Amino acid sequence: MNEIAEDVVYVGVNDRQVDYFEGIYRVPNGVSYNSYVIFDGKIAVMDTVDAHFGAEWLQNVENALRGKKPDYLIVQHMEPDHSANVFAFCEAYPDAVVVGNAKTFVMLEEFFGKLPKHTLKVTDGQTLRLGDLRELKFVFAPMVHWPEVMFTYDGKSKILFTADAFGKFGALDCDEPWEDEARRYYIGIVGKYGAQVQAALKKISSLDVACVAPLHGPVIRETLGACMELYRKWSGYVPEDDGVMIAYTSVYGHTEAAVRLLKKMLHENGLRNVFLYDIIRCDRSLCVAEAFRHGKIVFATTTYNAGIFPAMGEFIDLLTERNFQNRTVGLIENGSWAPVAAKLMKAKLENCKNLAFAENSVKIRSNLNAESCAQLKALAAELSR
Ligand code: FEO
Repeated sequence: MNEIAEDVVYVGVNDRQVDYFEGIYRVPNGVSYNSYVIFDGKIAVMDTVDAHFGAEWLQNVENALRGKKPDYLIVQHMEPDHSANVFAFCEAYPDAVVVGNAKTFVMLEEFFGKLPKHTLKVTDGQTLRLGDLRELKFVFAPMVHWPEVMFTYDGKSKILFTADAFGKFGALDCDEPWEDEARRYYIGIVGKYGAQVQAALKKISSLDVACVAPLHGPVIRETLGACMELYRKWSGYVPEDDGVMIAYTSVYGHTEAAVRLLKKMLHENGLRNVFLYDIIRCDRSLCVAEAFRHGKIVFATTTYNAGIFPAMGEFIDLLTERNFQNRTVGLIENGSWAPVAAKLMKAKLENCKNLAFAENSVKIRSNLNAESCAQLKALAAELSR
C-alpha cells in the first residue's frame, strides 16, 4: 500500500498508452492520474481517473479500503481525466456522497446527463470533518485549470491536495526532473491564467503546507519551496533566467545559418545560455514553455505567401494567447523579395505587455551577406548588454 502520510493512501494509475494529453501535448513518458484515500472516522476518496483506467483504479481503491466503505468522493476538478469514473464509483459504493461545489455539479450534469444520488455542495473555505483527527478545508481555485477547481487541505497531515496545480506530464515510474515537464504542463494548460494562479497561491499562503498532492505527477515534499518559487515565477510571467531562446524556421537552411551565427556571436560575447529551437522539428509545447523560461527571445523566420511562415505565426499565437510578456525580443526575417515577416511578427506581439523590442533587427535577402552579418552582430551586441 502506497501511504503518502499516516492514513492517506495513493490509489492513482499510470497511463502509458496516451500519446497526446488533451489531444494536444505529446507525452512520451505518459501521465499519471492521481487519486488518494483519506482515512478517519469517515473515509474520503479524492477524485477519480481517466475513463480508460476505471477498473484498475476501483481495484486500487478497494485494496486500500480493506473491506471498509468510503463515505465521500471529493471531486476537485471536472476535467474528464479526473472525473470520468464518478458514476462508476457511485455504482460501486452507492451510499457514498459526492462532494463538489455549485459549478462541479453543473458540469457533472453536463457530462453525464444526471447527478449522483447523494451530493454535498460546499462553498469556498467550508470544512468537512472526517473524524476526531481530520477536518478537510476546501479552497476554491477557479481557472487553475477550470472554473470549478478547488483544492483540499488536510490539517493533520498538512497535505494540500491541489488538483492540476503542481502537476507534471510523465507517469510516476519515469525518472525525469520535475521542472521541465511541470513547466511544459503548466505553461500549456494554465499559462494564460497567471492572475488566477497568483490569487490561489495567495489564498494558500496562510495554510501550513508540508506537502502538495497534485492530480498528476509526484507528491511534492522536500522540494516544495523550490516548486512554489517556480509557480510564483511562472504565474507572474517572470523569466527564470536571462538566457536567450532563438526560435526559428528555415526553408533552405539560410535562416538557420543566420541563427547559428547569432548563437556563435552571443557565445563570443560571453553569453552561455543560448538555445536554438527549430520550431518545426522541436515539440511545439516545449518551445512554448522555453519561451516562458528565458528572459530574451529571438524570432527568426521567412516571409511566406506575403505573410509570416505558418509555423512561426502559429507559435507566436500560442505565446500571445498565454499572455506572453516581460521579455526582450529580437527579430530576424528572411525574404528573397518583399520581406514582411519582421513587421508582421512585431504586429502580432505588440499587444503583449512589457515586451522590449531590440532596436537592431536583421533583414536577410535570401542569404547572409556583409550587411546582414553586420546587423546580426549589432543584435548580438544589444542582447549581450
Ligand atoms: Fe488534469 Fe485539467 O485536468
